[in-house]
Amino acid sequence: MKDEQKKIAAAYETVGKLSNLYDGMMTNSSFLGRLAMKIFWGLSDADYLKFLSYAFAGISENFSGKLLEVPVGTGVLSLPRYKNLRDAEIFCVDYSEKMLTAAKNHAENLNLPNIKFLRGDVGNLPFGDKIFDAVLSINGFHAFPNKNAAYSETFRILKDGGTFCGTKYIKNQNAVTDFFVKNFCERLGYFTPPFETLQSLELKLKKIYGAVKISSVQSFAGFICRK
Ligand SMILES: C[S@@+](CC[C@H](N)C(=O)[O-])C[C@H]1O[C@@H](n2cnc3c(N)ncnc32)[C@H](O)[C@@H]1O
Repeated sequence: MKDEQKKIAAAYETVGKLSNLYDGMMTNSSFLGRLAMKIFWGLSDADYLKFLSYAFAGISENFSGKLLEVPVGTGVLSLPRYKNLRDAEIFCVDYSEKMLTAAKNHAENLNLPNIKFLRGDVGNLPFGDKIFDAVLSINGFHAFPNKNAAYSETFRILKDGGTFCGTKYIKNQNAVTDFFVKNFCERLGYFTPPFETLQSLELKLKKIYGAVKISSVQSFAGFICRK
C-alpha cells in the first residue's frame, strides 16, 4: 500500500469507529452534524436537501440494472434508497474495513440482502470491462489518492450508455470550506489534493464522457455523465 493510501485508510478507520458522529453529519440530523454542515460546508437545511437530490439524481427510483457504489463509506445516505431497488444488483466497494463494517450493519438493519460489499481500491476495481449500468460515487473523488486511476477504472467497468454520477467537493466556492478542507480534511488524510473547481471538473468529465450535466451547491458539485 502506498503511503498516501495508508494515511487515508487510517483516517477512515477512525471515522468508521465513530460512525454515529459521521452519520449524524452526513444526514444533517444530529445537533453537531447540522452545525458542522452549516459552519464548515456552508450548507443551510435547504442547501443540504439540494446536495442530497444531486447525489441521487443519476439513479432513477425504479433502477433495475447493475449498480456499483464506490466509495460506499458507512452507506448512511445510499442504503435506505436501495430498499426500493429490489430488482437491482448492487455492489458496494470501499477501502476501509471499518467503514464497510458500519455499512454492512446498516444494510442488515434495513434488511437489504441483495447488496454485495467488497473491500477494494477504486483505482483497481475487481470487475470486468463494461458490466455496470451505473456507477454512483458520493463524496469519493476528493478523497481518492490516484484520481486518474479512479476515473479510468469507473469508466472501464461501465457499459456503453451507462451512467456515472454522484457528488464531490469543489474548491473556490466558499472560503471557510476551503480553509477547513486544507487545514483539517487534507492534513488528517480525509481528502487528497489536487481538487477541482466547478469549471475544471466540467472540462475533465467532458473529456471522458459523451454527455455531462453538472450542478452545484456551495462546495459540492453534482454530476451525471453518460458513457
Ligand atoms: C468522505 S467518505 C464518503 C463515503 C460515502 N460515499 C458517504 O457519502 O458517506 C470517503 C470514503 O472513501 C473511501 N476511500 C478512500 N480511498 C479509497 C480508494 N482508493 N478506494 C475505495 N475507497 C476509498 C474511504 O474509506 C471513505 O469511506
